[in-house]
Amino acid sequence: MSLDSFPRHPLLFGPSPVHPLDRLSGHLGGARIWAKREDCNSGLAYGGNKTRKLEYLVPDALARGADTLVTIGGIQSNHTRQVAAVAARLGLKAVLVQESWVDWPDAVNDKVGNILLSRVMGAEIRLVEAGFGIGAKDSWHQALADVEAGGGTPYAIPAGASDHPLGGLGFANWAREVARQERELGVFFDTIVVCSVTGSTHAGMIAGFAGQDRPRRVLGIDASAKIGETRAQVGRIARATAELIGLGRDLREDEITVLKGWAGDEYGIPVESTLDAIRLTGRLEGMIIDPVYEGKSMAGLIDLVRGGDIPATSNVLYAHLGGQPALNAYSGVFR
Ligand SMILES: Cc1ncc(COP(=O)(O)O)c(C=O)c1O
Repeated sequence: MSLDSFPRHPLLFGPSPVHPLDRLSGHLGGARIWAKREDCNSGLAYGGNKTRKLEYLVPDALARGADTLVTIGGIQSNHTRQVAAVAARLGLKAVLVQESWVDWPDAVNDKVGNILLSRVMGAEIRLVEAGFGIGAKDSWHQALADVEAGGGTPYAIPAGASDHPLGGLGFANWAREVARQERELGVFFDTIVVCSVTGSTHAGMIAGFAGQDRPRRVLGIDASAKIGETRAQVGRIARATAELIGLGRDLREDEITVLKGWAGDEYGIPVESTLDAIRLTGRLEGMIIDPVYEGKSMAGLIDLVRGGDIPATSNVLYAHLGGQPALNAYSGVFR
């Protein structure tokens, strides 16, 4: 098997843009930093990393005759919003289980941003009281059973489209896309920085890059504040994806790097370094990142460059995975 043996339903505009962040690089005074922009990868409700993963799940859903995509996330989940958009594009229904993963006091938290967009796109939203967790939840199983009981054919998409046999393929394909863009740009990104929570974004990249000739570092920055779970999930999905695409060797432990230090104490709660990273990136580059995911991975990148862990000779590719709609639910911190 190879990546090409899996059907892909195109949902993106094409390769996502890659561009340098020269003012940020100059400010940090170290490595040259570039961004690859999954936040503008498609015309589907502001895009994001899940849209790319769903390119590989959609053919499976359609082949199984599904009429309803059923998934789960937090109240401000980017993932559920992207599932709603993909369902709309395909003419399917979407049932979104939205759990209270984050205890955030902003009064409009459950009304604006991602959840607002999902409502606009006609998804059925079920608000559920339950804490953060990337595993399979009862509420999600209940939603699947309810669709069936109503005569529908559900297609089950786990949190972040990660713990799914095809979940890592989208970002294995991203790795291939990066290699093509490197040839066009005449640059080699020796270091990739990516935010990791449900794991298949980082894991897919690891599997994809592992099959390329030139080694590079793929640094995952944990934003779940549950580093053990993130590491285990990334390792498991990376190995399963590597096998699926016929890598032909086992992944080494040193190919699976998930770093802690920037998540704060809890998923979904920005800390000072998150907010500093959001403001710095906005002010120097006009590039918007969010308080749940990308603000945390950018905080990691900033410290790794400043501290010399990423050497000044490096070309770093920051994977911008989207997520800006959630900013609306955090307006209080930017007043
Ligand atoms: C904007 C954004 N960045 C990063 C991530 C983390 O990706 P993953 O869940 O595949 O680890 C997500 C989703 O969880 C996200 O929405």
